[in-house]
Amino acid sequence: MVDSSSAIDPRAHTPVLYQEVLSALNPRLGSRMIDATVGAAGHAASILEATAPDGLLLGIDRDLEAVKIARTSLSGFGQRATIRHGSYAEIRFHASKVGWTSVQGVLMDLGMSSMQLNSAPRGFSFRQDGPLDMRFDRSQETTAGDLVNHLNPRDLAQIIRQYGEEPQAKRISRAIVDARPIKGTAELAALLERTLRKRKSKIHPATRTFQALRIAVNDELEVLHQGLRQAAAMLAPGGRLVVIAFHSLEDRIVKVFFRESSTVSGGLQREDRRMAESKADLKLITRKPIRPTDEEIEANPRARSARLRVAEKTHLA
Ligand SMILES: C[S@@+](CC[C@H](N)C(=O)[O-])C[C@H]1O[C@@H](n2cnc3c(N)ncnc32)[C@H](O)[C@@H]1O
Repeated sequence: MVDSSSAIDPRAHTPVLYQEVLSALNPRLGSRMIDATVGAAGHAASILEATAPDGLLLGIDRDLEAVKIARTSLSGFGQRATIRHGSYAEIRFHASKVGWTSVQGVLMDLGMSSMQLNSAPRGFSFRQDGPLDMRFDRSQETTAGDLVNHLNPRDLAQIIRQYGEEPQAKRISRAIVDARPIKGTAELAALLERTLRKRKSKIHPATRTFQALRIAVNDELEVLHQGLRQAAAMLAPGGRLVVIAFHSLEDRIVKVFFRESSTVSGGLQREDRRMAESKADLKLITRKPIRPTDEEIEANPRARSARLRVAEKTHLA
């Protein structure tokens, strides 16, 4: 059963690039697939339908509420779907728990779902008041509130600059430190609006700082490196790795990982070398990312920033 106190509405989530994901994964009858960010299981259900009657799917999510929702949504598929609570940084461990060492496809639909964003108690949104939480996995200790109220000004500015690509990070950090303690998302959003009032940008003044805090709380970029390496290593020859990124920091990691895993690793920048160390032997299927159509963006504005990249395990691996 879905926990009725979760305040999460599974109908609030529309899977992004739905058709594009299906054709990129190219699921075959009887294949084993992993949806490493199963969420409300929109993509997962379509994969299971495409691989009927005997295709198997392992769904993973770091958010226990999403896990419960996915289990309920996929219950009609019976034993064909298994959902586990955990991180895609440990995708091989979760696969080993269902006895898998290789798969025909892995989907990673990164970031947060609209269910999480629209749930005020989760603290992801600057448009509703909630606690400064932002943890995907609520059993984890550190929350956004801990960073906002306890980090030293330099480290706070560094997070906001690096993960939010926010040019006014220092100014924001100073304003936050002066206003401590900050109790909730609405208070932080109002402070950011006051601090950045004069800038011309079209995006809300809180967007970059909220993104930065969420990435830092969940250590998202490091976890993504680990997830990509493990997912690529698990693919059977001809298997596909399909990744949807929602901002340039994660898209760059995916792009570089795919590029370096599909070329000889000599002559790489030091920063990129560790990504190539997986020797994943991938072939690029998308040289440029696939973007949503104007119709999809109109129907689902959250899709606007989505970029889908696809790579395939070579037969030489
Ligand atoms: C964009 S949503 C996925 C939506 C899903 N494709 C669907 O059709 O409903 C991203 C999901 O990834 C989960 N997530 C974030 N980081 C994760 C990680 N490291 N490991 C596993 N799941 C993660 C989030 O909790 C969220 O449910």
